Amino acid sequence: MVEIDVEELEGSLYRVLSSVVIPRPIAWVSTRSEAGVDNLAPYSFFTVASVDPPVVLFAPVDGPDGLKDTPRNARETGEFVVNLVTEDLVEAMNETAATLPAEESEFDRAGIGRVESTTVAPPRVGGAKAAFECTLRELIDVGGSTLVLGDVQYVHLDESIVDPESGKVDVQDVDAVGRLAGSWYAHVDDRFSLERPP
Ligand SMILES: Cc1cc2nc3c(=O)[nH]c(=O)nc-3n(C[C@H](O)[C@H](O)[C@H](O)COP(=O)(O)O)c2cc1C
Repeated sequence: MVEIDVEELEGSLYRVLSSVVIPRPIAWVSTRSEAGVDNLAPYSFFTVASVDPPVVLFAPVDGPDGLKDTPRNARETGEFVVNLVTEDLVEAMNETAATLPAEESEFDRAGIGRVESTTVAPPRVGGAKAAFECTLRELIDVGGSTLVLGDVQYVHLDESIVDPESGKVDVQDVDAVGRLAGSWYAHVDDRFSLERPP
C-alpha cells in the first residue's frame, strides 16, 4: 500500500480525495449577485445533508481571492438553485467552470437559457431535468473550504424522469453525469440492481 500520513504531507490531498471519492454528482449552482448578475458554476463536492428537513450541501474550495462567486452570492442574497447536470448539458456545464469576473454572467457566456424560479431570485437552467430552489441555511468555514447548506424550498422535475403511474422519479431515466478527477467524467448507463438484505 502507498501510505500517506497527512501530518507529514507536503502539498495538498486534493488529487487523492477527488480521485477516490468518485463518482460525484454535480451541483450546477445558479445564484444572483447583489448587483443583479446571474452566476452559474458546477460544484461536485455535493451531497444531500438531510432529508427532513430537505437540505443539500456543496463545498467550494476558496479561490486565490477567497470566496468564489457562488458562495459569496449565496452569503449576500441567501438564495441559490441546484440544477441537475445530465449528458445533454455536460458541455455547457463545463463552459460555466471558466473563471469569469463577477460582473460577467456564465449564462450569457455559455449561451444557457434562464428560466424564472418560483420561490427565489436566481434563475434555473433551461433544459435542466431537475432543479432545487434553496435558501441558505448556513455557511460553515472549514479552513480553505466553505460548506454551503441550503434548505430546499421548491423542486422542479422534468416529466421525462418521472414515472406517470407511480409519480416517482425513475432512476433509469436520470442520465446524470458523474465527476471523476481532472477532466474525467462517468456516464450512468450501466445500472444494476442489488436487493438490500432485510
Ligand atoms: C465538474 C466540475 C466540478 C467542480 N467542483 C468544484 C467543487 O466541488 N468545489 C470547487 O471549489 N470548485 C469546483 N469546480 C471549479 C469551479 O466550478 C470553478 O472554480 C468556477 O469558476 C467557480 O465559479 P464561481 O466563482 O462563479 O462560483 C468544479 C469544476 C467542474 C468543471
